Amino acid sequence: MFDHRAHARELARASIARGDVNGWFERLYVDSERDGFRISWVDLAPNPYLVEWLRGRATPLSGRAIVVGCGYGDDAELLASAGLVVTAFDIAPSAIAHCAARFPESKANYRVADVLAAPSEWVSAFDFVFEAYTVQVLPGKARAECARSIGRLVAPGGTLLVVARSRRPEDPEGSMPWPLTRAELDDFAAPGLELLYLDEVLEPGDPPVPRFVAEFRARR
Ligand SMILES: C[S@@+](CC[C@H](N)C(=O)[O-])C[C@H]1O[C@@H](n2cnc3c(N)ncnc32)[C@H](O)[C@@H]1O
Repeated sequence: MFDHRAHARELARASIARGDVNGWFERLYVDSERDGFRISWVDLAPNPYLVEWLRGRATPLSGRAIVVGCGYGDDAELLASAGLVVTAFDIAPSAIAHCAARFPESKANYRVADVLAAPSEWVSAFDFVFEAYTVQVLPGKARAECARSIGRLVAPGGTLLVVARSRRPEDPEGSMPWPLTRAELDDFAAPGLELLYLDEVLEPGDPPVPRFVAEFRARR
C-alpha cells in the first residue's frame, strides 16, 4: 500500500539535501492531487485548537487576521466567517489554487507567499496571526527564521496563536514533522511580543501526540 507519509518524508529529504527547504511542498500537493492520496495534515476542517480557543474568548476577535501556511484554507474560512478581514498564504501555488476552487465565494484573500520572505507591508499589520504546524516541517535554522518572521506580523496589541507538535529537549528530534521544543517557542517572541499562555496538550492517539498551544500578545 502507498505510504503517503513516507512519500512526504522522501520529498522533504531530497529537497533539503539540495539546499531547498521549501521545494517539496508544491510537489507534494501536486502529487496528492494527481494520484489521489491524502496529505497527512489535510483534515478539510478547521483546526480544533483554534475552534476551542475562539470559543473560550470573552470578547470576539476583530480586525485583520493572517493565516500562515494555510494549506487548503479551512482556518482562514473560519476566521473570515467570524468577521475578520483575512489574508491567508502558503508557499505552494497548488494549495492556494485549491482554496480558490473550494471557496469561490470566500471573503479571505488567498496569496502565494514565503513566510521566510514575507511582504514588508505585512510586518506589524495583523491583529490576529494564526500559525499551525508550519515551523515543524522546516529544518535547521529555517525554523527560527520562520518563527521570528511570524512574530513580526503581529500588530501592536495583537495576538499570535501557535499550535505545534512538541517534544522535550532530551527526546530525539525524530523525523519530519520535527516537533518543537519549549525553547523554540521563544523564537516567535519578536520585540514587544510576550508569551501570555502555554497549554501543553497530550492528544489521544496511538501513540498520543504532545502539542503546544501558545498564545502571544504584542504590547501596544
Ligand atoms: C504541515 S502543513 C500545515 C498546513 C495548515 N496550517 C494546517 O494546519 O493544516 C505546512 C504548510 O505550510 C506551507 N509552507 C511550508 N513552508 C512555507 C513557507 N516558507 N512559507 C509559507 N508556507 C509554507 C506548506 O506548503 C504547508 O501547506
